[in-house]
Amino acid sequence: MSLYSLIARPVLFRLPPEVAHQFTLAAMRLPGLAKAITVGRSAPQEPTELMGLKFRNRLGIAAGVDKNGDAPLAWRDLGFGFAELGTVTLHPQPGNPKPRVFRYPHQHALINRLGFPNIGAEAMATRLRQLRTKHPLHDFPIGINIGKSKITPLDQAPLDYLGSLKLLHHLGDFFVINISSPNTPGLRDLAKPDDLRRLLSTLQDFNRSCPQIKPLLLKISPDVEPSSLPELVAITREFQLSGIVATNTTIHRETEETKEIGGLSGRPLTARAMALTRTLRPLLGPEQTLIGVGGVMNAANYQSRRLAGADLIQVYTGMVYLGPYTAWEILRKN
Ligand SMILES: Cc1cc2nc3c(=O)[nH]c(=O)nc-3n(C[C@H](O)[C@H](O)[C@H](O)COP(=O)(O)O)c2cc1C
Repeated sequence: MSLYSLIARPVLFRLPPEVAHQFTLAAMRLPGLAKAITVGRSAPQEPTELMGLKFRNRLGIAAGVDKNGDAPLAWRDLGFGFAELGTVTLHPQPGNPKPRVFRYPHQHALINRLGFPNIGAEAMATRLRQLRTKHPLHDFPIGINIGKSKITPLDQAPLDYLGSLKLLHHLGDFFVINISSPNTPGLRDLAKPDDLRRLLSTLQDFNRSCPQIKPLLLKISPDVEPSSLPELVAITREFQLSGIVATNTTIHRETEETKEIGGLSGRPLTARAMALTRTLRPLLGPEQTLIGVGGVMNAANYQSRRLAGADLIQVYTGMVYLGPYTAWEILRKN
């Protein structure tokens, strides 16, 4: 048993999940705290190069942990190899009414229906500009996950995503196009082939016009029909996407206990996300990167996701249950 699970986690779990998260983020913003917590530990090293970027190890922070780019340096100090910030939208927005995050400790799970609360792409750009002038972060790639603003009608989604990409393009190392969160009405419809083509061509046309082309990836839902995956992957290739992030949270439920509306993550998602990794790897081929996410709760989950073909792995819910030494626990070799 770690000190986190004995002391800190019971205290944090007495707070409503979102309050505990805000508290943790505020702590991570304190200069030097993440370094102090991990003093004497050096970040797990397994250097690799993917999408033209250097990673010191293959484990990263999933989107949603740090929606506004509050604490990128802390994620680096906590031993991770990269971070995906966001989801950020073109227009700042408050998200759905609270409560909107629910914890299921027996199942090591969460349900959220946050609906992309965030400060907006412009404010995020200001933060990242300040960060980049002081910290080049050469071996710690920063991904930015972009989504659709709630006020933007679905047929104007491409321009909304494009607005965010334009503001943030020079500040992210790679970009993840999020069409898979279950909490923005209609968002998952953007996975329909014609809509997806329109979205990807808009974003990739702009990307290609920039002095430096950035890797673009698509984040998909675990609830997509398996039969639609070959076409989905073919479309990502048609627009030269660098890869796929699989998966977001699921709306699928296996037990009565997890009955809140929203996206389920953590242990109940492990098998589903794993199955998707297995299906996607051969479809993607060796050139496209597969970021595996969903229910990676321990070292065994990490290793099996890697063996199934994920190039990089991300965690969110696992970190809520494992605490500040998540990177060391999950990247432990045994
Ligand atoms: C509270 C919460 C907020 C999330 N917010 C986002 C988000 O803004 N954008 C996104 O693409 N995924 C978001 N996710 C999904 C995670 O990035 C991840 O895909 C999913 O939780 C599965 O991984 P996990 O089982 O390790 O949590 C969120 C997940 C949680 C639990």
